[in-house]
Amino acid sequence: MAAIRCCGGLLIGSPTLGGHAPTPIVSALGTVLAEGDRTRPVGVFGSFGWSGEAIDLLAGKLRDGGFRQAFEPIRVKFSPDPAMLAQLEEKGAALGRQVLAAQGGARRSASGGGLQESRSLPALRALGRVVGCLCVLSLRRGAGEVAIEGAMAASWVSQAGFTPPAISLSVDRQLPLADLLEVGELFALNVLAHGREGRLLKPFLKPLPPAPGRLADLDLLASPSGQPLLGEALAWLEARVSQRVACGDHWLLVAEVLAGGVLDPDGTTAVPQRRSGAPL
Ligand SMILES: Cc1cc2nc3c(=O)[nH]c(=O)nc-3n(C[C@H](O)[C@H](O)[C@H](O)COP(=O)(O)O)c2cc1C
Repeated sequence: MAAIRCCGGLLIGSPTLGGHAPTPIVSALGTVLAEGDRTRPVGVFGSFGWSGEAIDLLAGKLRDGGFRQAFEPIRVKFSPDPAMLAQLEEKGAALGRQVLAAQGGARRSASGGGLQESRSLPALRALGRVVGCLCVLSLRRGAGEVAIEGAMAASWVSQAGFTPPAISLSVDRQLPLADLLEVGELFALNVLAHGREGRLLKPFLKPLPPAPGRLADLDLLASPSGQPLLGEALAWLEARVSQRVACGDHWLLVAEVLAGGVLDPDGTTAVPQRRSGAPL
């Protein structure tokens, strides 16, 4: 009950057994209906074999009880395949964004300062003049059917050392990809070319399009360890995370450069120009 009262959002799931939800789940649903806050988003998920009545039961009772569902109920026949797992991650991230947006709105109204106001603070405008270079971070985990590929735009990127050659970059902790960038993990950094950055960056600027579509339409090469590389980039690096430090809402990563190549010797690096160091 304490968790239900204090949570920012809530997910409830059930298998269907003999046409019903198991008793502990029915009883948890009763507690949610009695104690849950209707202003917070909820989500329903479940595995089933052939009919899946428990999922309909949970979704129907929550809807009738006045709860707002963050997404259509997730129905998985027996076990999720990798494509379904990627969709589930995005639905989870969508719910997380709704929770954070609600909390951010409450915080902003409590502090009395809007985003526009903070964007115009001199310190944030000055911070906006600190720039990195426009890149797409890409990675691949596993092989064959269970492989996961992902990519994201990254511009808080800088060289961090000569010996060994190292880079630093900062990654939003809310992004699903951030969880795949633990110490020891490999990734690729595709440095974009000035003048060609717009088209290459476009698929990665949307909040979270369906995962399989992100790299599908692009001309891909592979780094020595099999990380996906954008063939139209200016240059690429393969790196391994050596340090990860929590920096407020971002992870600050230090990574050792293991390999790299210049794909367009005549091009120059795309550098974003910003008016503020506040979030967009
Ligand atoms: C005893 C039993 C009864 C089941 N009854 C149903 C059912 O009425 N409808 C349905 O869609 N699936 C039914 N299933 C399939 C389960 O919902 C399915 O196995 C579900 O994914 C359970 O998850 P788990 O096996 O990973 O725990 C039943 C499975 C078992 C073992």
